[in-house]
Amino acid sequence: MAILVTGAAGYIGSHTCVELLCGGYDIVAIDNFSNSSQTALDMVERITGKKMRFYPGDIRDKDILNRIFTENEIDAVIHFAGLKAVGESCEIPLEYYDNNVYGSIVLCKAMLQHNCKRLVFSSSATVYGENNPSPLREDMPVGAATNPYGSSKYIIELILTDLFNCDNSFGICLLRYFNPIGAHESGLIGEDPNGIPNNLMPRITQTAIGRLPYLPIRGTDYDTHDGTGVRDYIHVADLAKGHIKAVEKLANSTGVFTYNLGTGTGYSVYDLVRAFEKASGLKIPCKKEPRRPGDIAVCYSDPSKAFKELGWKAEKNLDDMCADSFRWQKNNPNGYRK
Ligand code: NAD
Ligand code: UD1
Repeated sequence: MAILVTGAAGYIGSHTCVELLCGGYDIVAIDNFSNSSQTALDMVERITGKKMRFYPGDIRDKDILNRIFTENEIDAVIHFAGLKAVGESCEIPLEYYDNNVYGSIVLCKAMLQHNCKRLVFSSSATVYGENNPSPLREDMPVGAATNPYGSSKYIIELILTDLFNCDNSFGICLLRYFNPIGAHESGLIGEDPNGIPNNLMPRITQTAIGRLPYLPIRGTDYDTHDGTGVRDYIHVADLAKGHIKAVEKLANSTGVFTYNLGTGTGYSVYDLVRAFEKASGLKIPCKKEPRRPGDIAVCYSDPSKAFKELGWKAEKNLDDMCADSFRWQKNNPNGYRK
């Protein structure tokens, strides 16, 4: 019995593979390397001393999925594969719907065909939209996403819920991630965005090592304790562990289960910068800039449902997240590109 991990070479996928292998699971993995590299998979095997079975390919290719399900006994699927850049999703929305929504449909059809009915899906806090107050709870209204990326996540949540409604033998976990940062403590795997990063932590780490000249502080007039945006940053290793708990839950339950994966604590941009400076011993040059369009002031989770039902809670703190992000970037100034 094995877990199929789609998008295994990506940032969250690679960290989850480490946790799965350390937890004694066999892994079958697929990735088309559209936003990742083989090196990440090599590093996962180096960290764990264990092998996984890898299929290079695209989840929209039903033939390769058919081969995977025929050649392996897949017990459950953890589905990370997808495109995730918010800005890009506004420029090429059809690519986002094709990759994320159509890709998920092809995957679910293959699962149905091969009678594999346990699925853990990477959703996002972005499905809560702009109108819900934090702390965000799973029973709040969702769907008012502000961009095609967010809409694709919401649509997939709907599709998976409909799938369960027509076949009650499915077990599906919709995991709504807050802001994953950090890296494996070995410094061998981490986040490796293409081009100039949009997200805060990779922007900080690339500024710290001199790849970028300064950190733009995108909005200093929000209604928050210091005027900058507040988010729920969560260590990627904690997030990865949440997936193991979700797989365990699905081993003996059917239904659609939605969980926030966050810490429940909000930190501002300046809080994160200060914590990073402490962890790295470096000063981050900052420049005040206007708000980023589409941003909200405050977004953090109520993670209590995941604790109650999965026995999961985040354990690492902001200092750990900063120290691990810095170690990864310092050891790999060009990410996986040597
Ligand atoms: P990532 O880009 O690092 O990983 C995604 C992986 O999927 C990459 O390795 C990419 O090559 C692969 N991939 C993309 N399309 C594919 C396809 N059609 N077939 C096969 N492989 C494909 O992203 P990540 O940060 O690891 O995110 C993983 C998942 O979590 C995504 O679905 C993302 O939308 C979701 N998510 C991420 C965040 C975040 O902040 N990182 C937040 C919320 C949700
Ligand atoms: C963004 C996405 C969200 C996605 C998440 C994880 C937007 C509007 N939202 O969330 O859909 O799920 O990434 O990939 O893009 N900031 C700066 N300077 C920077 C970068 C960011 O000040 O150079 C600030 C932002 O204004 C925000 C905070 O840092 O207040 C966090 O930003 P970011 O890391 O991009 O995450 P989100 O905006 O929460």
